[in-house]
This record gives sequence, structure tokens and C-alpha cells, in this order.
Amino acid sequence: MAVVVVAAVSVGLVGCKKATTTTPAATTTAAAPAVRITSPAAGATVPAGSVTVNIEASNFQIVPVGGTAAAGQGHVHYYLDVTIPTAAGQPAVSAAGTYKAVPATTATWDNLAPGSHTFGVQLVNNNHTPLSPPVTATVTVTVAAATTTATTTTTRPPTTTTTAATTTTTVATTTAAAPAVRITSPAAGVTVTAGSVTVNIEASNFQIVPAGGAAAAGQGHVHYYLDVTIPTAAGQPAVSAAGTYKAVPATSATWDNLAPGSHTFGVQLVNNNHTPLSPPVTAAVTVTVAAATTTTTTTTPTTTTTTTTTPGVPRRLPASHAGRDVCRVCHETPVPPAPKFPVPPRTPDHTAFTDALCKSCHLGP
Ligand code: HEC
Ligand code: HEC
Repeated sequence: MAVVVVAAVSVGLVGCKKATTTTPAATTTAAAPAVRITSPAAGATVPAGSVTVNIEASNFQIVPVGGTAAAGQGHVHYYLDVTIPTAAGQPAVSAAGTYKAVPATTATWDNLAPGSHTFGVQLVNNNHTPLSPPVTATVTVTVAAATTTATTTTTRPPTTTTTAATTTTTVATTTAAAPAVRITSPAAGVTVTAGSVTVNIEASNFQIVPAGGAAAAGQGHVHYYLDVTIPTAAGQPAVSAAGTYKAVPATSATWDNLAPGSHTFGVQLVNNNHTPLSPPVTAAVTVTVAAATTTTTTTTPTTTTTTTTTPGVPRRLPASHAGRDVCRVCHETPVPPAPKFPVPPRTPDHTAFTDALCKSCHLGP
């Protein structure tokens, strides 16, 4: 008996080692959707305040939330400090405030208490149910306490130096708690392709909530500006001419149909009632929008789409579309001879698809 057990164990161990290096299932995994968290890194200590979780999804197309489940597409659920719900056929949601359903590879958690936090993420179907098998990832990081480092410094020097140390502490406290904003993309000075530009920001010490209501410290929304001086008069709604600003409760906004040339994208954190913070918190970048390549127009008519049409499969773009980045302008309210894009009862419903998404389904010519 004893001999048999020992033999079984050693065979098991050898089997284990081999399985780690050469998994026969590797071929299947290549086409399967996968997700990984690119930041924050597991085990990292991050500054107090907000944490932005960035992910990378593969073999999975991120589309706006809603509709029926369709293989290979869906959106992302982000989780905070909960066990990721993966029950088949059930909406993969946890308690309010502990999950976000987002059609994007990034989501921000605000006002995190200092200490250990676990950020989860799951690729889900359009109808919020888990994929089969579920595709999830998590990282656990430590969120630093807001002012701990500065306070510790005070304990060190015993006599005269204490005064100097105390002064530093005060400054540090004020800066740590003040709302701040920076534009994460586009980078200043870059040249971007013709068409739309999406401005992405990172706000810290500031909770982004839907616009409206009375001003409340530490919360509000974001005003995005195009080619204007950012209005910062205290107590006045921080708006500019129609079409040159957007009030958005989000860290991202898209400007469509930009003329080629230099454009300045501004951003300001504002109170719920649209007034600037005190002091105002703004950022701006200037970039160059490249000229659209409309040169191909003359060569088009002959080759107009002889493509085989498979219902439900997005068509490859005709050659006339080379270099185009804006799409809705011709296909939403059709500009003849452009066909109107599908709206109910046709599927998929294109109503909410943004220009940035079109080419993720309709591959280029
Ligand atoms: C989630 C994937 C997806 C996205 C994103 C998407 N499409 Fe489509 N589109 C499709 C599919 C699938 C069809 C084909 C529907 C059918 O007829 O079977 C289609 C059809 C169309 C058609 C209709 C062609 C015809 O002959 O009727 C147009 C035009 C179109 N899309 C334009 C757009 C534009 C413009 C955008 C961006 C605003 C866009 N699509 C975004 C999947 C997508
Ligand atoms: C300037 C107007 C215009 C813009 C901008 C435009 N299209 Fe089109 N689109 C057309 C016209 C016109 C057709 C008809 C085919 C042709 O003549 O090229 C067409 C055809 C299509 C078709 C159908 C092809 C087929 O097989 O029937 C799709 C899908 C499509 N466009 C998607 C897009 C997407 C995605 C974008 C953005 C990248 C876009 N279009 C931008 C004018 C436009």
C-alpha cells in the first residue's frame, strides 16, 4: 500500500512540472478573449486619492453597453474590493459603488481610503453576463495615506529644526488635498490624424459626479474647451461660446470634425453648478490636426463594393474610405449616395456608436 502511494505521488509531481511548461490547451487559448491589468502594478503603493485602472483586452471588441450578447464583443466591468461575480447567465454586478460597467480600457476609482485595495476587472457580454468561461483579472495595491510622510518628518528633529519641519508639513497637507487635473492624451505638440480628437484627462482629489446641483467641495464635473481661453471668473458659469465647450461628467471627451491645423484643447474641473473651483484648476494642450487625405476621390467609382455580403458581418470599407476617420457625418443622416447605417429594427443599432468605434468593426480598405 505504502509503496503504491509513494509512486503515485512522484508520478503526480513529474506530471505537474511538465504541464507547467507545455500546456496542450495553448492552441485554444490564442483565440479566446483575455484581459490583463496594465496598471497599477500588483503590490504597488499608489498615492492617496484616485486610482485609475488600465487594462488590455485581447480577442475582444469593446462596444457600447447594451443589447444582446454577441460572441467576441462586449464591455468591461471594473470592481473594487469584491469577489468578481462570475455566475453564468447572471449580470456580473456587485453592490452599487463597487462596480462600474464601462465600454473602455480604463476606469478611475475616486476617494479611496488609505490601505489595501483590490481592483478587479471582467470582460462581459453586451447584456452584462460573464463570458464562458469567465475572463477576469485582479491586482491588489496599497493606497498611501494622504499626509503620513510629512507627519513622520516632524518627529525627527528635536529643537529649533522642528519649526522648519512643521512649516513643510503644512504646505504638504494643502497640496495633497487640492484638486488637480492633467491631460493624459493627446500629448502636447503632437500631430494627430484628421477627424476626431479624444481628450483624456486624469483628475485627482476630485470626485466626478453628474453635472447639476449646488457646488460641493471636492466634487463636480469637467468642462472641455476647444480653441478658447479657459473662462475662470469666480462665481460665473465657466462656459464659452456654443460648440467650443462641453460639460461632461467623465475623464474623456471627443471633438469631431476638426479642421486641419493647430488646435488647443482645454479642460477645467468645475463645481456642480459649472463655476470654477477656487483657485481654478485647468490644463491645456495644443496639437496639430493633420489634413484629411481626400486625394483618392477621383479613383473611386469603378470599384464600388462588389464585396460579398454576409448578414451580421461588418463590411470592409470601400477604397473610397482610405484615410477617413469621421464617419457619422455621412452615415447618420445619409449624405447621398452613402447608405444610412443600421438603426432598429436592423441590427446592430448604430445610434450610439462613436466615430472612434467605426473602424474597430469595419476594417479599412
Ligand atoms: C460593433 C461593430 C460595429 C460598429 C462599431 C459599427 N458597425 Fe457598421 N455595421 C456593423 C454590422 C455587423 C453591419 C452589418 C449589418 C447587416 O446588414 O448585417 C454594419 C452595417 C453598416 C452599414 C450599412 C451598410 C449597408 O449597406 O447598409 C453602414 C453604412 C455602417 N455600418 C457604418 C458604420 C459607421 C459609420 C459606424 C461608426 C459610427 C459603424 N458602422 C460602426 C457593425 C458595426
Ligand atoms: C464623405 C462621406 C462619407 C464618409 C465621411 C464616410 N463614408 Fe462610408 N460611405 C460613403 C458612401 C458615398 C458610400 C457608398 C460606397 C462608396 O461610394 O464608397 C459609403 C459606404 C460605406 C459602407 C458600406 C459599404 C458597402 O459595402 O455597402 C460602410 C460600412 C461605410 N461606408 C462605413 C463608413 C465608415 C466606418 C466611415 C468612417 C471611417 C465612413 N463610412 C465615412 C460616404 C462616406
